[in-house]
Amino acid sequence: MHTTSGPELEVSIWRGGAEGGFATYRVPRREDQTVLDVVTEVQRHLEPDLAYRFACRVGVCGSCAMTVNGRPRWTCRTHVAKVARGGRLRVAPLANLPVIRDLVTDMGGFFEAWQRAGGRHAPSATRAAPPATVPPHTPARRAADAGIECITCGVCHAACDVVGWCPEYLGPAALNRAWTLVNDVRHAERAGALRAVARDGGCQTCHTHGSCSEHCPVGLDPSAAIAGLKRMTLLGLLRRELRP
Ligand code: SF4
Ligand code: SF4
Ligand code: FES
Repeated sequence: MHTTSGPELEVSIWRGGAEGGFATYRVPRREDQTVLDVVTEVQRHLEPDLAYRFACRVGVCGSCAMTVNGRPRWTCRTHVAKVARGGRLRVAPLANLPVIRDLVTDMGGFFEAWQRAGGRHAPSATRAAPPATVPPHTPARRAADAGIECITCGVCHAACDVVGWCPEYLGPAALNRAWTLVNDVRHAERAGALRAVARDGGCQTCHTHGSCSEHCPVGLDPSAAIAGLKRMTLLGLLRRELRP
């Protein structure tokens, strides 16, 4: 165990790959300290080769998510005072993603699911066209707006049991993205996006237990978005507008 002087916090951090283990450190307690501050303190003063990700430090980029005392969280906006248990922290990589090293996971599968869910915007107008007018009060605009602020942190993906046992499941973040696009009247591939989420591993695989929405740090509701996709795909199938 590594030690420092003064009021301290005991922090166990995952080291190594999937077969690694926890190493324990003592770091100074500081006012308004975040979990990301603690990890940075360890990296700067005790373990220079500790691997972890962050960029903005203010809850915008979505790169700093980790498992903190068993729960997925954005670490730059998570204060130690809120989550430390008995002066202790346990920090691990996000669940449901392969570990590259220490606190860094491979997000490739997460973003690949976005692609499979038809998550890339396809403009329906040319650059020369005037800006589209989308009235803010329409149900479709409201539905799209409600899910648009996703920061791709992967917290919901890590919190979802179904992602853990069903590798082909698209997961809450990709499906939330698809929901914003099928409600975006400017998107040229709305039927294609709906077809993509109607396949095996799509929206019908969700068990609606809401863990994704409970954990989303920016207050999005992927579970509600998925419920919307379920309704829309079912309607499309009944109307024979959707062919697998
Ligand atoms: S509601 Fe669906 S996507 Fe969200 S955590 Fe549950 S199974 Fe996963
Ligand atoms: S829906 Fe929320 S938890 Fe999931 S990736 Fe987006 S911001 Fe993160
Ligand atoms: S470092 Fe950007 S969201 Fe935490």
